[in-house]
Amino acid sequence: DARRPLIAGNWKMNMDHLQSIALVQKLAWTLKDAKFDGTSVEVAVFPPFTDLRSVQTLIDAERFTLAFGAQDLSPHDSGAYTGDISGAFLKALSCTYVIVGHSERRQLHGETDEVVNAKVLAAVKHGLVPVICVGETEAELEEHGTSAVPVAQTKAALAGVPVGTPVVVAYEPVWAIGTGKVATPETAQEVGAAIRAAVAEALSADDAAATRILYGGSVKSGNIAGFLRQPDVDGALVGGASLDPTEFAAIARFP
Ligand code: G3H
Repeated sequence: DARRPLIAGNWKMNMDHLQSIALVQKLAWTLKDAKFDGTSVEVAVFPPFTDLRSVQTLIDAERFTLAFGAQDLSPHDSGAYTGDISGAFLKALSCTYVIVGHSERRQLHGETDEVVNAKVLAAVKHGLVPVICVGETEAELEEHGTSAVPVAQTKAALAGVPVGTPVVVAYEPVWAIGTGKVATPETAQEVGAAIRAAVAEALSADDAAATRILYGGSVKSGNIAGFLRQPDVDGALVGGASLDPTEFAAIARFP
């Protein structure tokens, strides 16, 4: 099932919690105890760059059915780009996914739609599935309504991406990130459907039908069910709640 729900945990740069390795260990054992095998739902974690290697080693050694990826990548392949990490490095570490265009990158690092598009193309070139983040700020919501900004960002991010390329799009209203304010499932559905139509326009109808569209912004075990019931919401991108392995496993509905 191309649209098997994806529950993705973005750990961001949080240091005040368990170390990544302990976090992934506890998550994996919690899921394993609950008989999670990845068939009904896919679970992925996004540690900081510096912990990707240890997370990979642990997942391999224990044969955990967990996917993982990075939180960002360079638009460049190789060269004099001090501090940057290219998609080739991430692929070499067996990353499946890479988050691109998170609102914190857009806002704190000035990433424009053009930069996000270049990063999406770099991810695709290196065989990574980009998790493209889109979403409006509170001011944009008031000015343009719900779907206009996420749709425009989706189209811009997918420019030049070949038909048939697997991508994930995460709708994250900026006003809902880390605020405890959560979009309603109905709003997530409305925007999810609009994003799917944008994917159809940018790629193809078949791609749109196969693309997973996630909701992100203050997702918790107590509110996930309403989102997963929506036909155009295929999972969640979870920040804060992914730092608690028991809570994150419960968001994936294990147990
Ligand atoms: O990438 C994850 C999002 O920014 C959501 O974060 O669940 O802490 O609101 P949050």
